[in-house]
Amino acid sequence: MHEPDELSNAIEAAAAAIARSGHAVALVGAGLSAESGIPTFRGGEGIWTKLGEPTFDGWELFNQDPAAWWQEAISFKQEFAEFNRAIDDATPNAGHRAMADLEAMGRLAHIITQNIDNLHQRAGSRHITEIHGNRYLVRCMSCGARDRLESVRLDRLPPLCPECGGFLKNDTVMFGEPIPEDALRECYRQTALCDLFLVVGTSAVVYPAAEFPVIACRRGVPLIEINPEETPLSGLASVVIRATAGQSLPAIVERLVPGRGRR
Ligand code: APR
Repeated sequence: MHEPDELSNAIEAAAAAIARSGHAVALVGAGLSAESGIPTFRGGEGIWTKLGEPTFDGWELFNQDPAAWWQEAISFKQEFAEFNRAIDDATPNAGHRAMADLEAMGRLAHIITQNIDNLHQRAGSRHITEIHGNRYLVRCMSCGARDRLESVRLDRLPPLCPECGGFLKNDTVMFGEPIPEDALRECYRQTALCDLFLVVGTSAVVYPAAEFPVIACRRGVPLIEINPEETPLSGLASVVIRATAGQSLPAIVERLVPGRGRR
């Protein structure tokens, strides 16, 4: 973590870069939701650190026998009960609200989030691509149509898409599952449009998500990293804020619009 004046200088530099930008894009990871009580995946208390990373079996099982996959999903694997409960109990934190403020101020054009917790939407952000899906949605494996998970009838498995009759699956992208085409296309489009890239609360080790800031950086787009820890992207960043998102993002908003960062 930074010394106080180092942190203040980094916040100042980030706010100045955001003020100068015309199309800032953010890549967000689990670290943004950590202050909402949702565990991260890697690092000391991470879920994968505790349980080990999921295998690719889930995606293979879904393709072999979607009904059996749904049967298992409904049986609500205990091992993820803690994570799922943490998401359901979570509310947006000051970091989410500050990102929604930056969007409302016209200072943040788009969020590419790896989080499935719906907290950006609840904080008021609108321009979002959920590259790993959304825990509260289902998606058709044939036509890509999405709907609310709670609207799906589970008396017949697997549930079928009302649009095309294809198999429905929860929208959360599983290990081994391709990223939905519409989400991937928008991520590349935003990466091509951006003139500033914020990387917030991600270990930047999962692809294709971690690739977008690198592609932008290759064409000279400045990166701002907000993370208490170093990541593989730290060396590419023009500004590194070694602090939490809940502390840094409101401080940046406060620098841009005095008084607004304290909400
Ligand atoms: N503020 C900012 N960053 C934080 C905070 C915080 N309060 N707390 C932790 N972090 C940082 C950690 O230092 C770490 O670099 O957040 C990052 C979390 O990294 P991961 O747990 O790997 O989460 P993430 O990068 O989102 O993982 C990417 O991996 O398994 C997949 O689908 C999963 O979307 C996830 C993807």
